[in-house]
Amino acid sequence: MRFAQPYHACMATVTQDSTPTEDAVRAALATVNDPEIHRPITDLGMVKSVAIAQDGTVDVGVYLTVSGCPMRETITSNVSEAVQGVPGVTGVNVELDVMSDEQRRELASSLRGGKAEREVPFAQPGSLTRVYCVASGKGGVGKSSVTVNLAASMAAQGLKVGVVDADIYGHSVPRMLGTEGRPTQVEDMIMPPSSHGVKVISIGMFTPGNSPVVWRGPMLHRALQQFLADVYWGDLDVLLLDLPPGTGDIAISVAQLIPNAEILVVTTPQQAAAEVAERAGSIAVQTHQKIVGVIENMSGMPCPHCDELVDVFGTGGGKQVAEGLTRTTGAEVPVLGGIPIDIRMREGGDEGKPVVLSDPDSPAGSALRSIADRLAERERGLQGMSLGLTPSNKF
Ligand SMILES: Nc1ncnc2c1ncn2[C@@H]1O[C@H](COP(=O)(O)OP(=O)(O)O)[C@@H](O)[C@H]1O
Ligand SMILES: [Mg+2]
Repeated sequence: MRFAQPYHACMATVTQDSTPTEDAVRAALATVNDPEIHRPITDLGMVKSVAIAQDGTVDVGVYLTVSGCPMRETITSNVSEAVQGVPGVTGVNVELDVMSDEQRRELASSLRGGKAEREVPFAQPGSLTRVYCVASGKGGVGKSSVTVNLAASMAAQGLKVGVVDADIYGHSVPRMLGTEGRPTQVEDMIMPPSSHGVKVISIGMFTPGNSPVVWRGPMLHRALQQFLADVYWGDLDVLLLDLPPGTGDIAISVAQLIPNAEILVVTTPQQAAAEVAERAGSIAVQTHQKIVGVIENMSGMPCPHCDELVDVFGTGGGKQVAEGLTRTTGAEVPVLGGIPIDIRMREGGDEGKPVVLSDPDSPAGSALRSIADRLAERERGLQGMSLGLTPSNKF
């Protein structure tokens, strides 16, 4: 069926006294896509309000998904341009606001397209996979180095191990594990590449070259969910997640997606690093997750001349974090071990061969192996296990 064009346009946009209708303005807004999500802002719940004055001036309220959105200028000018084109509009004012957490969650769920969500296998009550989130307060404390070494050591013992590089902005796991393969897609499953017997998936595998990832909350949540649910992991004994430093969106997403994941805190002996690590760890109280222990990295460097340990980054950070977290959580949080500064650990990371494999008896290699043994041997108690119940005050 065909309409004569002028008739159609008139019907859609102009009332008798030629003041634009709200329907016409909303129809114009539906032509504006969010520059990052590439979907109409009207579908994303981003249109807060539309007010039309008698003189044809239109005020549009627009929700940004996050404050400080880098796309605010683009959104403002695209909205103005689209509404300006509606017959009868004499001026457009765009006012920006920011979505609440609740609105962001709704957006994330609408981005899933109402499609039944694939289940995260590790979150199922019967799952036997131990999930460890490696967290730290600051970057550069050795979180990724610890993650890949624990993974490689456990895999060398014959455990089935997977690593999710969830450090969206600072992904480094594939390089440190020497993973060169790319994920392949089979039907709607993603097959992860592996190296040293460890299955690895990283956001870096889905972005061209070394380009930075600038994603917002709902997209991060979606990416993580895909890593957990759409990647074919098989039956894993252990899954390690290398989290971004701090207490951001990803930590919350992990807690929602795998409530039974346990947190492993990495810190240096330094007071300042210990304090921020403690803050990062105490997010577990809010998310009801268990903290499995604290690893103190860079704890001393063997003196090249006398072999005595030199405390480059001070002492006691690991103990301080463990004690602080024991107090905040009310559950015993142990120090799982200390890893000395060891050039071979850095070299192993640069060369893609973790020190636990290239030099297992070096001071760092053996410290890491004994922590890995401790984590691999742990019996899963009821504490920290998801019982399939969601307390209503969870978040
Ligand atoms: N115990 C250690 N001895 C020597 N170098 C280390 C040690 N731990 C980490 N490094 C090096 O320090 C740098 C930062 O470590 P990385 O694991 O990337 O930290 P994070 O993931 O916390 O940002 C890397 O170059 C790494 O090789
Ligand atoms: Mg890192």
